[in-house]
Amino acid sequence: MKQNQISSRMQNISPFYVMDLLAQAKQLEMQGHNIIHLEVGEPDFATPPLIKKAAIDAINADQTKYTGATGLPELKEKIAQYYLQRLNAIVKPENIIITPGASGALQLALSVLVNPDQSVLMADPGYPCNRHFVRLLNACARSVPVGTDTQYQLTHQLIEQYWQDNTAAVLVASPSNPTGTLISQGEMQKIIDVVKKKKGFLLVDEIYQGLVYEQLDFSAAALSSHVFVINSFSKFFTMTGWRLGWLIVPDAFIEPVDRLAQNLFLAPVTVSQYAALSAFDEKTLEVLDVQRSELNIRRNFLLTGLIDLGFDIHVKPGGAFYIYADVTKFTDDSFKFCNDLLYQAHVAITPGIDFGDNQANRYVRFAYTQNLEKLQMALDRISDFLSNYSH
Ligand SMILES: Cc1ncc(COP(=O)(O)O)c(C=O)c1O
Repeated sequence: MKQNQISSRMQNISPFYVMDLLAQAKQLEMQGHNIIHLEVGEPDFATPPLIKKAAIDAINADQTKYTGATGLPELKEKIAQYYLQRLNAIVKPENIIITPGASGALQLALSVLVNPDQSVLMADPGYPCNRHFVRLLNACARSVPVGTDTQYQLTHQLIEQYWQDNTAAVLVASPSNPTGTLISQGEMQKIIDVVKKKKGFLLVDEIYQGLVYEQLDFSAAALSSHVFVINSFSKFFTMTGWRLGWLIVPDAFIEPVDRLAQNLFLAPVTVSQYAALSAFDEKTLEVLDVQRSELNIRRNFLLTGLIDLGFDIHVKPGGAFYIYADVTKFTDDSFKFCNDLLYQAHVAITPGIDFGDNQANRYVRFAYTQNLEKLQMALDRISDFLSNYSH
């Protein structure tokens, strides 16, 4: 065995191309260029004041030891109330597992559900880390190509069509990253029914819950107690760096998930949990609702601006903070397009290749995580760039 041997499973873990792009953008910034960042999935908003204050108070009160592996009971209580009041869903606090972000929740859920050589169905394009979580379990991430006809989402028909004997679970995200599209409540019910019929498991990633602009904002937890629901304080609550999320599990999985969480993480970050107790205060929710309205304004602004510039946006995104745009009019290589846009116009966006293989060369993702002034500046730069663009 060589001393520097890296496990063979690492061959299946691909990098985030957007991180390379971000590194290049930072280099350009160091050379004195002004870059507009529309590539990373976190808004420019600060964490609301009451949450920050609660964290400082917790540190001062020496709340810095481990909590239980599944998190503070009082935080579970608050989350359960939130589901009842805002989403009309009855969730028992004991079914809520507090995790290190949605990332920790996804890792826990997939690990307790999927055996080696089984497969998990997921949409392509989709959130890239999911394939890697599944591959780490020596299982198979089965990407299902989705397009405009299904709003870039899995449907109950597609699940039926792609289901195989070794399929253990289906993972959907609504709103989705990178497309911002949603699964309707009626369709979600049909997905739940088909997965139940197949005796499999359904995981619903609701990390962008709260950031829904026109359609009904619901939780799959309101439709079934057999679904694994993933959520996080990262996006709606603007707490990306606090590394805190949660997982709702069916009764039979509370104990195994607890056991695995003890081993993998010991506990979620204590200070972040105390901070998150203030995330559901009326005052904080008011701040967050204002931010949602601001994101909606940005969404409409950028959508109109991009369409005016000739980008094809086949499905209007109903949530999250992303626009998935077709750039075939300008190029047959969206990765090169992103690179050229960065170096020539100093606007950073994400190439489709980060989200899968399905028509990835045709698409790019814009994140409207900057204010209107910066979005206008980005549109002006893109307009100049396109007027001279030849690839
Ligand atoms: C769909 C989706 N799921 C999960 C995550 C992980 O988020 P976190 O671990 O910060 O909660 C992200 C982050 O961008 C995401 O877009």
